[in-house]
Amino acid sequence: MLVWSIASQKGGVGKTTTVASLAGWLQKENLNVLIIDTDPHASLTSYLGFDYNNIEKSLYDLYTQESFDKESVQSVITHTNFPNLDIIASSMTLATIDRKLSGRSGVGRILTNALKLIEDDYDVVLIDCPPVLGALMVNALVASTSILVPTQTEFLSLKGLEGMVRTFNIMRKADNNCIINYTVIPTMYDKRTKASRTSLEYLTAHYKDNLWQGQIPVDTLFRESSQKGLPITMLDEKCRGALAYRELLLQLLSKELEINPDKISPNAAAIVSLASGEKNTKSDVNKDMDIIAGDVDAMLS
Ligand SMILES: Nc1ncnc2c1ncn2[C@@H]1O[C@H](COP(=O)(O)OP(=O)(O)OP(=O)(O)O)[C@@H](O)[C@H]1O
Ligand SMILES: [Mg+2]
Repeated sequence: MLVWSIASQKGGVGKTTTVASLAGWLQKENLNVLIIDTDPHASLTSYLGFDYNNIEKSLYDLYTQESFDKESVQSVITHTNFPNLDIIASSMTLATIDRKLSGRSGVGRILTNALKLIEDDYDVVLIDCPPVLGALMVNALVASTSILVPTQTEFLSLKGLEGMVRTFNIMRKADNNCIINYTVIPTMYDKRTKASRTSLEYLTAHYKDNLWQGQIPVDTLFRESSQKGLPITMLDEKCRGALAYRELLLQLLSKELEINPDKISPNAAAIVSLASGEKNTKSDVNKDMDIIAGDVDAMLS
């Protein structure tokens, strides 16, 4: 079972959008996906149509159990309206969790221990993190096989990324066994703006080894998809934004195949080999995106 945390200490950079979009593609590929909303604002929970004031069981219940077994972990999971897609929902009470857990030992590994109990149930777990460093984020990062850091291509977001990398270093110092694989995802990229281009140059210069080579473009359909409570893949799987997330997914899966071959399920691994046969389609997609971008450039220049 792969576990991906989508984290940044900066708000509004596309974390929730990234979780919803990757989940959309994964469930489309018939993989079993669990998403965990660890943000007390519960954006993802609302996105998927749940009323976070009225959720029967949430992540809060998991964190506040004295001990748990497989059944009690499964009991906080809710099925969504989409096939193969389950959620551990957030609730407002999660905002109190740092206070609730203070003084307890091993609080940073609660989620890791819980996920171990259900590792045969899902191919991929996606964790939406709050934009603040606390017990919820540390639990998510420690439990992950890979961490995705969406970084909006503008100056303030780059500062948020620096904060995340500092956090990774602190975690490595605290636990020598803590392995952190992270990928920086440039988001809301608009190549017509200087801010986007300069930010991307900065990312390439400073984070080359951890930078995904693609970018998630600005696409107004993301806003529409969150309003409608549908992952973008269900709104229009051929739009620029959806296609970019598919490229990202393939890249992440092939990286996992290399670094965590024991964690990737045969079904998830199969997507990578199928996709390598899609190479031609992939370059067609890039060509299509260039043509569209060219059209838009012409319309606006
Ligand atoms: N690539 C994109 N193009 C256009 N709009 C986008 C894109 N990605 C995200 N958005 C929009 O930007 C807003 C913020 O995105 P999102 O909620 O995913 O960020 P977040 O990092 O989860 O924020 P928070 O820290 O508040 O949880 C949303 O309205 C979303 O629809
Ligand atoms: Mg969010």
